[in-house]
Amino acid sequence: MIICKTIAEVLFFKQSLTEKKRTIGFVPTMGALHKGHLSLIEASKKQCGTTVCSIFVNPTQFNDKNDLARYPRTPQADIKLLEEAACDMLFMPSIEEIYPQPDTRVFSFAPIDEVLDGLHRPGHFNGVAQVVSTLFDIVQPHQAFFGLKDFQQVLIIQALVKQLHLPVQIVPCPILREPDGLAMSSRNALLNTEERKAAALIPKLMQEAKELSKAMPLAEIEKKLIEKVKKEPLLNPEYLLFCDAQTLQPVNDIINKKVICLIAVYSGKIRLIDNIVLS
Ligand code: PAF
Repeated sequence: MIICKTIAEVLFFKQSLTEKKRTIGFVPTMGALHKGHLSLIEASKKQCGTTVCSIFVNPTQFNDKNDLARYPRTPQADIKLLEEAACDMLFMPSIEEIYPQPDTRVFSFAPIDEVLDGLHRPGHFNGVAQVVSTLFDIVQPHQAFFGLKDFQQVLIIQALVKQLHLPVQIVPCPILREPDGLAMSSRNALLNTEERKAAALIPKLMQEAKELSKAMPLAEIEKKLIEKVKKEPLLNPEYLLFCDAQTLQPVNDIINKKVICLIAVYSGKIRLIDNIVLS
């Protein structure tokens, strides 16, 4: 695997690709790689001649300095995993390489960036749009692979690509889960034993939301499940909402639309998200 740290090195790598290898599949990450990321690499390898992964902990998408400081960083283990997965190139830029001067661009993806994480993490999706558009500019992939655990992020990136007329196909990939159902996330590594145990309630709530939605008004389910979270001393709910899966606007029923239930919960100090599509 080739490791590039600068944009010039990426361009040099791209120029060296033979005709057969020229379709680029891209997996942007913030590192601390797990099986979920590796499934994205695998999906890219199936569809593209060359697979590029990036590891960059993007400061502009963190609205909380402590969250940025504690974000897990495991570069040596990540490189080993990517080599084993036969990734072709890893782009690992410095902050100065991506932001030689501050990125002042302001994006709007209303209404999908005004709800859920857009509401609770102000500026987060603007930072995601800044870094993803910059990385797309540098790597110029044909396809880019994103996990559906970050369902709202996938919709935002699809909107970004449309807004900027970028010639890249966004490929949403299924959520990978631990044996007890917890969605795989780099943040899981930050949970202590008790917080990790408590977090196992999250996927159970998602399953329960799906079951109950067949028979009970959605607003009542939201209330009931939020109360369940509150009973677990280590968990603190931020939201649990049923939304239209295209607009992310709240819905009252599941008739004639694709509905998704999304959750954000703190286990101790660690913020976790998950979702389940109902119909
Ligand atoms: O999902 C992530 O890891 C990040 O938000 C992304 C897409 C790599 C942008 O920094």
